[in-house]
Amino acid sequence: MAQLLTAIPIVDEHHVDRRRYPHGVAFIDGQYLPMSEAKISVLDWGFLHSDATYDTVHVWNGRFFRLDLHLDRFWGGVERLRMKLPHDREKIASILNNCVALSGHKSAYVEMICTRGSSPTFSRDPRQAENRFIAFAVPFGSVANKEQLERGLHVAISETVRIPPESVDPAIKNYHWLDLVKGLFDAYDMGAETALIVDTNGHIAEGPGFNVFVVRDGFLRTPAFGVLPGITRRTVFDLCAGTGLSATAADISRAEIKAADEVFITSTAGGIMPVTCIDGAAIANGQVGPVTRRLMDLYWQKHTDPQWSTAVEYP
Ligand SMILES: Cc1ncc(COP(=O)(O)O)c(C=O)c1O
Repeated sequence: MAQLLTAIPIVDEHHVDRRRYPHGVAFIDGQYLPMSEAKISVLDWGFLHSDATYDTVHVWNGRFFRLDLHLDRFWGGVERLRMKLPHDREKIASILNNCVALSGHKSAYVEMICTRGSSPTFSRDPRQAENRFIAFAVPFGSVANKEQLERGLHVAISETVRIPPESVDPAIKNYHWLDLVKGLFDAYDMGAETALIVDTNGHIAEGPGFNVFVVRDGFLRTPAFGVLPGITRRTVFDLCAGTGLSATAADISRAEIKAADEVFITSTAGGIMPVTCIDGAAIANGQVGPVTRRLMDLYWQKHTDPQWSTAVEYP
């Protein structure tokens, strides 16, 4: 017995985390902290059940891009999940600004998160949980690296089916990513760099953190069903409206995407990014196409337009 007792470890008073994190600043439980100190309880339902919603906006050269649209989508998700934010919209916008300003980043990836939180009694009733708001700003990151942006991404279509919208509403931006991560591993196994997964009808849906567009005979199309209504996807529609290009949301089959003139993906993490190879076969001549190039240029130009962007207030 005495031997057993000496083997029992002590309970430490504080958590020590020796992992390294990117430079940035987070806001959690009312405090601004370096990323290495930003922690949530293991009892938070956001962690235990993926019971959370979030949004990601980026800052480019000191300006938020389409912040209002990201806040609208975040608010919609929070309401539909029956959560309550502890701050109003103006305060949250100022917290996001502060995270970026305190980090010093001129180009940043800025996340706002609402988790179900936890209940003091570990109750199984989500109504008893105290919801938690978290925000952070870290360096800007992209789905595609510099080389991939120049020559186009190599993508594989996985057999994995995206969680049906009847189960989880994709318009509520969420962390239910096991299907997307499985798709990514399938893609790596097929020698590709990233993945597209399919909807419940076998049509192309989306990829890990991005929507997809095809261009055929000058017309653009993006999946309508079972996908997150991405802000970058919406931005492509807005850019098309301003330039006379025609874009619609409708089903895309595997055969159609492979027979496209151009394919590109869209995400806050990287913007508009070309795809030049699918399942080992080149899209058209395997070069980044003119419509994709034109939209990429316009997209980045809009980042200085005050109608589409707002300046971060640095100290
Ligand atoms: C599943 C999914 N689809 C699409 C997107 C692209 O959305 P947005 O353009 O708003 O970044 C994301 C972004 O994270 C995503 O997680």
